[in-house]
Amino acid sequence: MSQALARKDDAQADLVRGEFPFTGADFRAIAELLYAMAGITLPEHKATLVYSRLAKRVRALRLGSFQAYRALLDSPEGEDERMNMLAALTTNVTRFFREPHHFDHLRDHVIAPLADAVRAGRRLRVWSAGCSSGQEPYSIALTILGVIPEAARLDVRILATDIDPNVVATARQGVYSDEQVEPVPADLRQRFMERRGSDWAVGAAARSLVVANQLNLMGDWPMKGRFDVIFCRNVVIYFDESTQARMWSRFEPLLNPGGRLYVGHSERAAHPGSALVSDGLTAYRAPGVLA
Ligand SMILES: C[S@@+](CC[C@H](N)C(=O)[O-])C[C@H]1O[C@@H](n2cnc3c(N)ncnc32)[C@H](O)[C@@H]1O
Repeated sequence: MSQALARKDDAQADLVRGEFPFTGADFRAIAELLYAMAGITLPEHKATLVYSRLAKRVRALRLGSFQAYRALLDSPEGEDERMNMLAALTTNVTRFFREPHHFDHLRDHVIAPLADAVRAGRRLRVWSAGCSSGQEPYSIALTILGVIPEAARLDVRILATDIDPNVVATARQGVYSDEQVEPVPADLRQRFMERRGSDWAVGAAARSLVVANQLNLMGDWPMKGRFDVIFCRNVVIYFDESTQARMWSRFEPLLNPGGRLYVGHSERAAHPGSALVSDGLTAYRAPGVLA
């Protein structure tokens, strides 16, 4: 058999056996679309995961096959479904005060030193890029409120963005289960969150600090001014190496002098020509001093 024929056979063979045939060609077409849309790379060992998440979509849409599903994704009418596919394939795992050392660092090295200036009217801007369902930006808000309880009346904003509209909607609601709020330090929970039925709602002060919007990091970034702090944690880990480096090189000029960038535990904000210096565990500082 020629090599070309063998490749064709591979592409047509079932990669996952289930309710709908799922071939290598199906997997590659979906992986290419996800990469083009969000920069996320999908290795072939994730084929079973992709199948199980998307078979639900094929079933819900009564399409009967992945071939028909791909045809929908490729069509102009597929716009909504492309977003559903993306939402189904992104990993949204997050939790309050995840990697708690970042919040101690933020409190001690950024918020506390700037508190007097912020009280006197200085702008404080933080970006949680890839915020998932909101636990990260609200952990930032609670950290700020712990130092500056009156922050809601000052010029303090936390921009929270994610590509997945479902998690952005959850972030806007700001309501979490008992289990989800468990990592929130008791004093902050007591002062800045409130009971809502059997859940916890983020209180008005913390909510007013956070603005949640959908944003694809692969596209244009519409925001104007610079940030004192950027959190981009456990997001670029799904991107290939060159996309990761491009991301860090785009964040860096958006930091104020002395601004901080916090990245995920297995990430390193390295890119050619970077002036960022290491400032503790997976934390970086832009040259200059925050003032
Ligand atoms: C694992 S969560 C991390 C959440 C939070 N930063 C944390 O560390 O707990 C990754 C998030 O990145 C988002 N994401 C993936 N690709 C993205 C892109 N191209 N633009 C914006 N957000 C993206 C996903 O939707 C997901 O909510």
